[in-house]
Amino acid sequence: MKIANLSLPNPLFLAPMANVTNLAFRMLCKKYGASLTYSEMISATAVVRQGEKTMQRGMTCEDEQPFCIQIFGNSPDTITEAALILEEIYRPVIIDINMGCPAPLIVKQECGSALLKSPSLVHDIISHLTNNISTPVSAKIRVFDDMEKTLEIARTIEDAGACAITVHGRTRAQMYSGTSSLEYAKAIKKELAIPVIANGDIKDGESAKHALEYTGCDGIMIGRAAIGHPYIFREIAHYLGNGESLEIDHCTQQVNDFMEYIELLEKYDIFSLGDIKAQSKAFTKGVAESRHIREKLNDAKNLGSIINVMNGMCDGTY
Ligand SMILES: Cc1cc2nc3c(=O)[nH]c(=O)nc-3n(C[C@H](O)[C@H](O)[C@H](O)COP(=O)(O)O)c2cc1C
Repeated sequence: MKIANLSLPNPLFLAPMANVTNLAFRMLCKKYGASLTYSEMISATAVVRQGEKTMQRGMTCEDEQPFCIQIFGNSPDTITEAALILEEIYRPVIIDINMGCPAPLIVKQECGSALLKSPSLVHDIISHLTNNISTPVSAKIRVFDDMEKTLEIARTIEDAGACAITVHGRTRAQMYSGTSSLEYAKAIKKELAIPVIANGDIKDGESAKHALEYTGCDGIMIGRAAIGHPYIFREIAHYLGNGESLEIDHCTQQVNDFMEYIELLEKYDIFSLGDIKAQSKAFTKGVAESRHIREKLNDAKNLGSIINVMNGMCDGTY
């Protein structure tokens, strides 16, 4: 597929996810075939202040390219100032604007999905960016119950100069409940000339194939299904290529991937015990007795104990 003058080997993108998609996690997803990865959302205001922790969220490496940085904010000036700083330091191929986050903390600041109620502000943010930065700009939205209002926002984003749009088929009020509808991505794809990426509830080869075929979208973005299971990108790519599921030992795969995740955190110097603990629990997904394993992980006081539990996860010796 093509996006922002790039030819990508497949249409599988890793979704931006706060507290999940750090550089180490993104590199694992890339290894398994994600053709485009996104940083977690980064606050425009914090970037302008150049907070060290904030800047770390944009950290990338040459091997990761192509990768995107996602920003959240609500002021066209501040977002543009932040984008200028981030493009200079990290050289992302796309700067994406978060117009979908429903978290109260973000919406209260009139950011994320709160932007969608003002098409003129959406236009100003994207056009200000495209007029002032050299990196292509995209947006990631949620939808309205009302299809026409959703299409209006999508058109606004395209008219303002965005290079692509990602559509998570849930409304802001839905948060993460219910199901994500593919109807909106399908309708937006029909109307717009820029690439459209469908997102929401894609969790395996079958749902990926269905999302691509049903919507006609250029790409699909995978979020929660990749948490604790970055190998999903290889599984989906295989299914799309052969129509067959890969036969793998999921438990062993997840333990190996978790160990590699730790190595990557160390390599990029972004190791934190809190993060490892949270991620270790995610890597028990789908494993027998995972509740007990997670309890053990909760009690673990140091990295050694976490590794011991994870190493015993598949043969019941945790
Ligand atoms: C833990 C978590 C963090 C997320 N953080 C972000 C974020 O920083 N920016 C964003 O646009 N969406 C964020 N999302 C939403 C996802 O990118 C995605 O749109 C949503 O999870 C639906 O896709 P899925 O069904 O494949 O998970 C987050 C979702 C989760 C579960």
